[in-house]
Amino acid sequence: MTDADLINAARAAAESSYSPYSQYAVGSALLFADGSVVTGTNIENASYGLALCAETVAVAKAMDGGVRGGLVKVVVVGPHERGGGAPITPCGRCRQVLNELAQLGGTDPEVLCVAPDEVRTVRLSALLPHAFGPGSLD
Ligand code: THU
Repeated sequence: MTDADLINAARAAAESSYSPYSQYAVGSALLFADGSVVTGTNIENASYGLALCAETVAVAKAMDGGVRGGLVKVVVVGPHERGGGAPITPCGRCRQVLNELAQLGGTDPEVLCVAPDEVRTVRLSALLPHAFGPGSLD
C-alpha cells in the first residue's frame, strides 16, 4: 500500500460524506501494521454540533472490528477548493481519538495531511504533544 493508494482510499471515502450543512467532505484512511486499511468519512447532523469527523468514524469502524493497535499511518483529505490550499489537519477531538488507538498498540503514526500541491507528514505525537492516553489512568 503506497501513500498514493492510501490517499486515494481516503478520497474515495470522502465520496460517501454526509455533509449537507458544511459542504465540506472529508475522507480518512488508516493503515495498520498488517497492511489492512480502514476508511471513514464525516457524518453531519441537523443538530450541527453532533457532526462526526472522518478520522473518528474510521477509528470507530476499526475498533468495532476488534482492532486495538498497529496504527502506522493516517491520511486526512478535505475539499481542495476550501482552506486556501493549506493541508487539512485533524481537529483536536480527532487527535485525541486517534491517540487512543495509537497508544493502545504503542505506535506513533505518521499523519498525512493532504493539500492540492503537497502532503504534509506529521507524527501524531507532534500534533498532540503530552497526550492523555490509556496509560495515564494506570
Ligand atoms: N471534519 C472532519 O471530518 N475532520 C477534521 O479533522 C476536521 C473537520 C469535518 C467535520 C465537519 O463535518 C466538517 O469537516 C466541517 O467542519
